[in-house]
Amino acid sequence: MDRATATVSVDSFPGPKAEQRVEYHHRFAAPSTYVYEFVWDTLADAAGPFVTDVDSNVLLDFTSHVGAAPLGYNNPKILDRMAEFDLVDPLKIAGQDFYLSAGDPTEPAYPGPAELMDLLTETTERYGLDTVFLSNSGAEAVENAMKVCYDASHGKYGVTFEGAFHGRTLGALSLNRSKEVYRRRFPEIHGIHEVPYCDDRACTRATCSCGFFPNAETPSQLRRMLDPESGYVDPADVAYLILEPVQGEGGYRFPSDAFVEELAALREEHGFLVIADEIQSGMGRTGEFWAVDDYPLDPDVVCAAKGLRVGATVASSETFPTETSRLSSTWGAGDIADAMQGALTIEAIHDHDLLANATAMGDLFLELLGERELPNVLDARGKGLMLAVEFDSKQRRDDVVDAAVQRGLLTLGCGTRTLRVLPPLDVTEREITMGVDLLAAAIEDAA
Ligand SMILES: Cc1ncc(COP(=O)(O)O)c(C=O)c1O
Repeated sequence: MDRATATVSVDSFPGPKAEQRVEYHHRFAAPSTYVYEFVWDTLADAAGPFVTDVDSNVLLDFTSHVGAAPLGYNNPKILDRMAEFDLVDPLKIAGQDFYLSAGDPTEPAYPGPAELMDLLTETTERYGLDTVFLSNSGAEAVENAMKVCYDASHGKYGVTFEGAFHGRTLGALSLNRSKEVYRRRFPEIHGIHEVPYCDDRACTRATCSCGFFPNAETPSQLRRMLDPESGYVDPADVAYLILEPVQGEGGYRFPSDAFVEELAALREEHGFLVIADEIQSGMGRTGEFWAVDDYPLDPDVVCAAKGLRVGATVASSETFPTETSRLSSTWGAGDIADAMQGALTIEAIHDHDLLANATAMGDLFLELLGERELPNVLDARGKGLMLAVEFDSKQRRDDVVDAAVQRGLLTLGCGTRTLRVLPPLDVTEREITMGVDLLAAAIEDAA
């Protein structure tokens, strides 16, 4: 498949082979999250955002596997390098308890977990975060961030935000404040307090509508909660505040500087730690390496996963516990291929200027969409390639996701009535134009 000339073509979706494969899958799979019956044919052509399914439909994938494949399909920037190496057995090595290298340790032939951690800490150097704990998933990156903060601060409380999503393990789910299905009847970590999350990039104290700032004169809800005289949470007992710098599952919500400045000011006053959950918003998605890079806040801990292929909790060496075995995981660094892919992805983002591309292509998407008179669209927003379109109802959003896939465009829902669009970071002008055409047609279909 030549990416420069590839086009979308859908015969029937889901086709008969997809239905068969989906039926087989569900004979064994526990119920989980399934958006549509897209079955990728791993032996068929795929390039960039173009992917062939088992019924030979060619689709434009603007989900990038929920951001977990930030460079799209068969990207030569990754594959050509990986093809140089004969993978060895055991492919999966025992996490950070096990060291590996290829050839000269100072100049190994391929990047492993140590190189991955080295590259990661270059991106967090501006925050003084120089140490990494690798794990297997986003939820584990969050779990370990919580443990690190409880240990470093001796505090017993955490602060989270309305609309938050941080993963599905018992610790991480205690922080979730988006769909109630994530927490219903599961035991939770006690002492997690919540406040509203700003969802208006341009709002000020005076214009705030989420309730975080009741009005220009009254202190913010977090300030009132932590007030040593009249608040109901002793700030000395707060171990951490965790935020998604841009909320993902909660609906692609972009907070204002005024909101983030207030969080930074309260951290300064009370000394709790700030965790930036960058699992969805990081790795170049917003055109910054980390979404928080664009905000007036220096995190104490950064969590990454998805496009990194492994989970990562990044903090300063002073924040991490010094005692061994406080943190550990058998498969913590993923497998050799995971570590390599994560490292090559970071290198590709830098070497190919993909942050600038994400910014330019995201702007183009919003510009092209904004030129159209589209029915039932309340808002189209984004930064870089973290893009969203909000509709007048949940049903409408679901209908647009369905109509889009019928036309050959893969998108995803988030929040209650928002559709998210996550093209690969090296998406081209041609692909963006094609995606906007398909999405606009789907919006008309759903109307
Ligand atoms: C912001 C955020 N945090 C945590 C997670 C959990 O990551 P994982 O599914 O790898 O456990 C996700 C997953 O979507 C996420 O978006």
